[in-house]
Amino acid sequence: MRILSGIQPTNTPTLGNYLGAMKNFVKLQNDFSDADIIVFVADLHSITVPRDRQELKKNIRSLAALYIATGLDPARTHIFIQSEVPCHSELAFILECNSYIGEMERMIQFKEKSAKQGQTVTTGLLTYPCLMASDILLYDANYVPVGEDQKQHVELTRDIAIRFNNKYGDTFVVPEPYIMKGGARIMSLQDPLHKMSKSDPNPKGYITLLDDINEAKNKIKRAVTDSYGSVKYDKENQPAVSNLMEIYSKLKNISYDEIEKKYQGLGYQEFKEDLAEIVGNELKNIQEKYHAIISSNELDKILDDGRDYAYRLARRKIEKVHHKIGLGRK
Ligand code: TYM
Repeated sequence: MRILSGIQPTNTPTLGNYLGAMKNFVKLQNDFSDADIIVFVADLHSITVPRDRQELKKNIRSLAALYIATGLDPARTHIFIQSEVPCHSELAFILECNSYIGEMERMIQFKEKSAKQGQTVTTGLLTYPCLMASDILLYDANYVPVGEDQKQHVELTRDIAIRFNNKYGDTFVVPEPYIMKGGARIMSLQDPLHKMSKSDPNPKGYITLLDDINEAKNKIKRAVTDSYGSVKYDKENQPAVSNLMEIYSKLKNISYDEIEKKYQGLGYQEFKEDLAEIVGNELKNIQEKYHAIISSNELDKILDDGRDYAYRLARRKIEKVHHKIGLGRK
């Protein structure tokens, strides 16, 4: 069984990325000792919108270090950088030739992002799901752990894989999205109806894993709440408090019922103060490990090994695909 996922190195990962994706990678790594696990830095994905060169370079390395700092063990999980394995873009074009513009235009993320960008929407933003399908299909991944917002892209990957297999004969494993309960859609701390996002123009809405600890705590303490006055999980009527409870529950590994009991008769204040401490401690642990890794030589060795491992698998798949389609001489 193979489990595969990736994250874009745009800005630093948020608490949303952590709870919806990174923490789950670690859980899967630890729970499925016989699974082959691949986690990569999706740097090609991040250039669908213009990026500053220095910033991008810094974020790529930083995300790789954060994978390890959050608990991925390089002895168990292969970690690499997408653009260092050229097969990803090679297969992406082939998949573009086996998918339809209408399918790409129907993607919610494309609709949302392109609505904001008007005339400057790149072709890459439209075809991005084919690159993501390529990331997954190159490695015959069975499960793809992602947050709720990426489910549609994994479903499209399935459609493309099935279509390709029907047309050219069995080539790709059809993957399944793996969405864990709790934390799959963490909302903004300032607007519980919008997803927490690293590209939110209001930094009070999100916490990144490398935020200053006190600043992060303050963001929790100042997060918007609802008007009920009691700590109760009710997504419809108390979306803000329910979002904070989701963060609490996922970080402390306790149920909503237990949280409700603990804060029964108390207002939001005490709950938020405790949550601020919990978030602060989690970030502190991650940051300590992060600083040790980012300044060591070990990281390059890990990424070289990850790249070589990924390349071997991906090259074999590309050759199979070429053969099935009739490309090249062999
Ligand atoms: P990206 O970089 O936007 O997000 C990385 C992961 O974090 C999850 N996520 C969230 N989970 C909970 N709450 C949130 N507010 C939240 N925001 C983001 C995402 O669902 C995702 O799991 N295209 C992908 C990266 C990618 C990929 C892949 C993933 C490229 N190729 C192949 C899996 C397999 C992306 O842009 O995710």
